[in-house]
Amino acid sequence: MVKATNLTWHNAAVTKYDRHLQNGHGSCVLWFTGLSGSGKSTIANAVSAELYRMGINEYVLDGDNIRHGLNGDLGFSEADRTENIRRIGEVAKLFVDSGTIVTTAFISPFRTDRDQVRALFNEGDFIEVFVDCPIEECERRDPKKLYAKARRGEIKDFTGIDSPYEAPARPEIIIRSDLLTVEKAVKEIIAFLQDQNFI
Ligand code: PPS
Repeated sequence: MVKATNLTWHNAAVTKYDRHLQNGHGSCVLWFTGLSGSGKSTIANAVSAELYRMGINEYVLDGDNIRHGLNGDLGFSEADRTENIRRIGEVAKLFVDSGTIVTTAFISPFRTDRDQVRALFNEGDFIEVFVDCPIEECERRDPKKLYAKARRGEIKDFTGIDSPYEAPARPEIIIRSDLLTVEKAVKEIIAFLQDQNFI
């Protein structure tokens, strides 16, 4: 691949801050990370639904969905997961620039990949939400029967089985999804957004 040259960055006529003023709220990314079956998508969608109910511009970027389209060319090797997260980070940045509160639900198993996404954002605009759930509980839930397949050797490089998951060292929010209801998790996250004056 030959990288493009002769590119010029155009400054936008309408900025993120103009949009914040018009919308009456700020924008940020709630970056959910956790094992398969930990509840990332469920909680991210529930947060988004609550924001929508409050009249706030929101959008969910979800693992399985993005892998059907934008990242349909990627698998689950380390390099592909890194590229998956890099692209999603760039997309999330566009959403934040558009004045949207974007929730992302990807395993994003590698700390350096998440930290590289964090570095794309202004301080405070990247909110790492660790959906912390013991693997035994994720495996017990096994909503897509993927753990069972991985145990039978029918899926290779499955996170938590034969591919690593690196838990965040200092996430902004920790949700113990085996102990908390979805409603309580949503309340906690909305309270965080209010506390940080995003909404
Ligand atoms: S990653 O690691 O962030 O790039 O993964 P992500 O884009 O979030 O995709 C995870 C979903 O893909 C399904 N799936 C797998 N997950 C983990 N490891 C392997 N090998 C794998 N193969 C398929 C699975 O449905 C994941 O969805 P969630 O919602 O996490 O259960």
